[in-house]
Amino acid sequence: MKIDVLLGLQWGDEGKGKIVDVLTPGYELITRFQGGPNAGHTLAFEGNKFVLRSIPSGIFQGDKINVIGNGVVLDPALFKAEIESLKASGHPLTERLKISKKAHLILPTHRLLDAAYESAKGDSKIGTTGKGIGPTYTDKIGRNGLRVGDIFHNFTTKYNQAIERHKKILAQYRYEYDLAESEKEWFEGLECIKQFELIDSEHYINRALKNNTKVLAEGAQGAMLDIDFGSYPFVTSSNTVCAGACTGLGVAPHNIGEVYGIFKAYCTRVGSGPFPTELFDRDGERMRTVGAEFGAVTGRPRRCGWIDLVALRYAIMINGVTRLIMMKSDVLDDFDTIKVCTAYEIDGKKTTDFPFELDDSTKPVYQELKGWKTDMTKISDEKAFPVEFGAYISFLEEYLGVPVKIVSVGPDREQTIIR
Ligand code: GDP
Ligand code: IMO
Ligand code: MG
Repeated sequence: MKIDVLLGLQWGDEGKGKIVDVLTPGYELITRFQGGPNAGHTLAFEGNKFVLRSIPSGIFQGDKINVIGNGVVLDPALFKAEIESLKASGHPLTERLKISKKAHLILPTHRLLDAAYESAKGDSKIGTTGKGIGPTYTDKIGRNGLRVGDIFHNFTTKYNQAIERHKKILAQYRYEYDLAESEKEWFEGLECIKQFELIDSEHYINRALKNNTKVLAEGAQGAMLDIDFGSYPFVTSSNTVCAGACTGLGVAPHNIGEVYGIFKAYCTRVGSGPFPTELFDRDGERMRTVGAEFGAVTGRPRRCGWIDLVALRYAIMINGVTRLIMMKSDVLDDFDTIKVCTAYEIDGKKTTDFPFELDDSTKPVYQELKGWKTDMTKISDEKAFPVEFGAYISFLEEYLGVPVKIVSVGPDREQTIIR
């Protein structure tokens, strides 16, 4: 059996949590392969709403097993908070969640370093989620990181060494902090992690695939935030693209099956960085209001704009997407006209190739399509699609060269149309 991968194709928040939850009945094992609590994956069903940060979005469907893979960075304190809030809502999961021993730990000082680096950048700050993601991956790549499996191996010494090293850097940045409270929470979180089965996840997952177990890999962030292919340096610090599932789980490339690429019918971004189709007018404001575009983790208003097919086609290429999933089309229900960016104009020249970097000289070239002006939120069959909505999907499929297999018309699990 091959592993299917679900990834965001834009700047994150495409609706990955919702769709992983929708697809989970077809899988036995759900895995996360990168990122950490910078993610906020929202699920809505039976009148309830949940936001997951580090835990895979398969936990609400029956007795599926969920694995936090080696590519993930885990903050014990936030992990404990997440576990406790799930338990309080009647979803205990100790038996159904396993954690890779090779996942790296976000230390309390990583969060401080994140803040110190951001503040030192001044106007050119990245606008991170402040969860210590960059510094933790930096330590991983710099071969200074602490892993979940280290908890049982001379941990205190390793921890103290890392903290001392971080304190020196913080002193250079003249960053003031109080570590005591966050360290206390952190160590309580570590005790919480110990209650879970800590596994060699690469063995576990490969064995599962060999035994024909159906496995889904859940991406975090999105292709445009990928450390290599995103809008660098305004990106996150992991490989969010499909190849990240290979390194983040220990799965060989030839064992990748379907690649689900998920995108919004428009586009959003949180934090700083280029966004060629960003809107600063009433249309953008409308997207933000109707789409409730406020960060699931930080509550920050998301920047909104029209769909960018140049960037989307690039993301599809890098990820090898086989099936597309279009989210939040209901947010555009009331627009007379919908714009679609089909090319960029850079220094007076038109191109459909995604450039080395996006900057202020990258201007979107739009094609206009007629809006469907229909409430889509209760539609459950594609036969009921308004003509204009069908035309919008066909236009995207033709440009992108991949079929749109799922359409989401509302946040609830039920508001999903499989084609
Ligand atoms: P993720 O990070 O990719 O899982 O996405 P987020 O959960 O951060 O953001 C997606 C937001 O859109 C959440 O508030 C979802 O509840 C909501 N959502 C998901 N799908 C739809 C949809 O089809 N329509 C609408 N209106 N909201 C949706
Ligand atoms: P999900 O999984 C949207 C953005 C941050 C910032 C940049 C770097 O919910 O789609 P980081 O804290 O990772 O160092 O921040 O990346 N970012 C996200 N934006 N959705 C996310 O996750 C994000 N995770 C990080 O806003 O611009
Ligand atoms: Mg999110």
